Amino acid sequence: MAESMKGLKRTHRCTEVSEANLGQVITVMGWVQKSRNKGGIIFTDLRDRSGLLQIIFEQGENGDFVNAEDFEKAEKLRSEFVVAVTGKVVKRGGAANENLKTGTIEVRATGLRILSEAETPPFPIEANSKTKEELRLKHRYLDLRRPDLQGNIIMRSEVVNKIRNFLADEGFLEIETPILMKSTPEGARDYLVPSRVHPGNFYALPQSPQLYKQLLMCSGYDRYFQIAKCFRDEDLRADRQPEFTQVDMELSFVDVEDVLDVNERLLKKVFEDTIGVEVSLPLPRITWQDAMDRFGSDKPDTRFGMELQNVSDVVAGCGFSVFTGALENGGSVRGLNAKGQAGMPRKKIDALVEFAKGYGAKGLAYLAINEDGTYKSSFAKFMTEEELAKLVEAMDGQPGDLLLFAADKNKVVWDVLGALRLELAKTMELIDNSKYNFLWVTEFPLLEWDEEEKRFVAVHHPFTMPMDEDIPYLDSDPGRVRAKAYDIVLNGTELGGGSVRIHQGDIQSKMFEMLGFTPEQAHSQFGFLLDAFKYGVPPHAGLAYGLDRMIMLMVKAESIRDVMAFPKVKDASCLMSEAPNVVDPKQLEELCIKIDLPAEETEE
Ligand code: AMO
Ligand code: AMP
Repeated sequence: MAESMKGLKRTHRCTEVSEANLGQVITVMGWVQKSRNKGGIIFTDLRDRSGLLQIIFEQGENGDFVNAEDFEKAEKLRSEFVVAVTGKVVKRGGAANENLKTGTIEVRATGLRILSEAETPPFPIEANSKTKEELRLKHRYLDLRRPDLQGNIIMRSEVVNKIRNFLADEGFLEIETPILMKSTPEGARDYLVPSRVHPGNFYALPQSPQLYKQLLMCSGYDRYFQIAKCFRDEDLRADRQPEFTQVDMELSFVDVEDVLDVNERLLKKVFEDTIGVEVSLPLPRITWQDAMDRFGSDKPDTRFGMELQNVSDVVAGCGFSVFTGALENGGSVRGLNAKGQAGMPRKKIDALVEFAKGYGAKGLAYLAINEDGTYKSSFAKFMTEEELAKLVEAMDGQPGDLLLFAADKNKVVWDVLGALRLELAKTMELIDNSKYNFLWVTEFPLLEWDEEEKRFVAVHHPFTMPMDEDIPYLDSDPGRVRAKAYDIVLNGTELGGGSVRIHQGDIQSKMFEMLGFTPEQAHSQFGFLLDAFKYGVPPHAGLAYGLDRMIMLMVKAESIRDVMAFPKVKDASCLMSEAPNVVDPKQLEELCIKIDLPAEETEE
């Protein structure tokens, strides 16, 4: 029978009790971690969100013990019962438990109430549980009781507090923007919400508050931020969720430097104050071009070296047609030096070739430098001794090294070697997990050629400002125009990104033209923003962090799901609530919606 809390008040969380409270009578409430009856004396570990505290129940008449009735209740305690315990804080009778914050004390209960009984949970409520994630997510409310998840969720709350305080101190205003908005495609697919009042019309959930925050700048709020829920119907990965949170900001009367400056100070404050990681400023910066050339990635992990080398000049005119063919097609030949890996077994090298093919490579040429200076290679037979020596020198190849080369269009070569670099770093254990390497990647290309659609698309979004000195190329050579866009990268993960926005009507029109929008199309999609810009618009710029990703990196979680209270799984469903789900036909009728499933799905 569940008892009430009447007349009782919690005085402490479990681990707020310490030797400073010795002799005091306290009341704690929480869940039974485990309870052991040693005959005449019962040891119970009580758990709340702060941690564990040992309680002792012993029967006796004097005020330091529980009475017969409460002792009988204590005998019934089982894991996950919710209880209230009143008792005296005493030194531990047995040996101290060094693993516990409260390991030198215990509470001698004088009173017990069972506030709620519990069935045996489907998995143990403990840290580092080996339970399958599927089962944990189905019972997320239990999973969230586990101390490692609680640590993540508590950290998340602390980080958000720090960010709020920092931005408020810097003069940012927290302003909410709508969740039900007009569909204005931003790259990913929109989540749509049907309107009952306007049958056949739909709202879209925001992929980000981008348009609204720009409008707020037009309205004079000059520094805005929001902890904003964003929705993107895209393929999920370990660091992506359909519904996620951004720390979103926008500033007026600023250029790139101002945005980077305030954000560097924000990151320093947050990382130092919450996880004690020292962040020295200014943060390193790299242009997009250099990032691709050196790391084959626009989000380089700089915790280790093994940089790419462009050997196109060195192999030009050599006898290996794979290399020269790629160069003739306007591509490049680049390589990686896997130091000390010359002895890698053939099977493993073949696996690397397959790995490279997964990233679009046609092959992966290798050259192992044996300790005696001879080579073991897939292409040495096509090249002269002299050509090989030049190539090895260009790669700084030493006896014992394994050189790997990709030859193709730049994009393919970067993708392949960028991915291979990370893969090798893992197997070669080159990554120091205690490091937090921040990096700004700047000067992204403004536009990217879309082979399928045969037109340019915006790399960031259509409102991103070209770099001043590249504006003349908008007409003559759009592909070479760089943008005032920047990403903040941490340990090879894109933590956030942003840009300076276009605030001049003529450049914006030009941009829409480049992206293949007619003026009418631009107006029907973004008319309200373009109209707003007619009435006085300040130069503005902004940035948004993926909050979930930030916390994931701070707590070193493997998946973004471990830092969200109620995440979704790969197919965007929630295993606990079983969303999405069918709805009452009456609801559909009201919305004038008829379901027309493709044949194979109706058969189920
Ligand atoms: P962007 O699209 O780069 O920029 O998003 C900003 C950051 O949000 C995070 N993020 C995600 N996190 C989890 N799951 C997802 N599906 C997901 N998608 C993105 C990333 C990313 O860096 N409006 C612009 C920002 C601006 O220009 O100010 C924007 O949304 O960490
Ligand atoms: P092949 O002449 O196709 O047998 O290839 C000889 C070697 O070159 C093999 O090791 C292939 O994996 C490698 N190779 C083939 N295409 C490429 C490419 N585009 N880039 C790098 N290596 C390649």
